[in-house]
Amino acid sequence: MPSAQVFLCLAVMLAAAAATAQAHLQCLDNPPERSLLGGQAEAGEVVHDLPGGFRAYVTGAASSSHAIVLASDVYGFEAPLLRTIADKVAEAGYFVVVPDFFNGDFYDTSKNISEWIKSHSPVKAAKDAKPLFAALKKEGKSIAVGGYCWGGKFGAGIAKTDDIKVVCLSHPSTVTAEDMKEVKCPIEILGAQNDTSTPPKLVYQFVNALRQRNGIPYFAKIFPGVAHGFACRYNTTDPFAVRTAEEALAYMLDWFNKYLK
Ligand SMILES: *[C@@H]1O[C@H](CO)[C@@H](O)[C@H](O)[C@H]1NC(C)=O
Ligand SMILES: *[C@@H]1O[C@H](CO)[C@@H](O)[C@H](O)[C@H]1NC(C)=O
Ligand SMILES: *[C@@H]1O[C@H](CO)[C@@H](O)[C@H](O)[C@H]1NC(C)=O
Repeated sequence: MPSAQVFLCLAVMLAAAAATAQAHLQCLDNPPERSLLGGQAEAGEVVHDLPGGFRAYVTGAASSSHAIVLASDVYGFEAPLLRTIADKVAEAGYFVVVPDFFNGDFYDTSKNISEWIKSHSPVKAAKDAKPLFAALKKEGKSIAVGGYCWGGKFGAGIAKTDDIKVVCLSHPSTVTAEDMKEVKCPIEILGAQNDTSTPPKLVYQFVNALRQRNGIPYFAKIFPGVAHGFACRYNTTDPFAVRTAEEALAYMLDWFNKYLK
């Protein structure tokens, strides 16, 4: 029962966080500034009628034969930095979709995260997203998934199907080495030195599991001097954080270019 596994992982994660002196979940750090949403900065638009009933931020050429689905963290698709990333990915020639996998019920700090995650399992979401991927495929698009935190677990789930060609997980949460045994497509994992959710030693376990797979291309990198969330919830006034996030995006794009084009 995969969803039970997720809850277990999260429980372990919560327990581990609670056990440390500075107990907090890095998954919840630096929430997006929703007030900055929309306006001229956004190249794309929000659509309400994607197959499967999804609302999404879409950007880039709809006629592209390559689609990138970006799976958000717990804060959802109403995140200015995530949309900036989507626009940059679109500039590389892709059609980019950032679905609202939470049907508007994004996590916010007034909610109890363990309660919230129970009703928003990334494993279940990956199954529920089937119609969306089927529709993109029907349009003749080959698909990549870029997942962040919650979306990393989502991406690992989709990577176990034949629906996508390539996946990139940026600072994923609740992903396990077991997941790596079932991944069917080239996988890139971008971790952070200071990530307490998916620490470097867990990334090494992913690599060890992938090394034992035959013919699944993989790449992993640990970015120094940053923590969980560094790729999509970075501090925009900290030049080092901005540079590192840009570097992570470049790695993701290179990975997609290599296996999608
Ligand atoms: C959050 O929910 C869990 C599970 O229902 C509960 O055990 C915990 O006490 C709650 N935490 C807070 C801060 O309310
Ligand atoms: C990373 O961890 C080191 C050592 O614990 C700490 O000094 C540094 O401030 C942390 N940096 C970030 C970005 O979390
Ligand atoms: C963001 O970075 C700036 C410049 O380094 C720093 O002054 C500020 O405290 C940081 N903000 C947060 C929320 O960490």
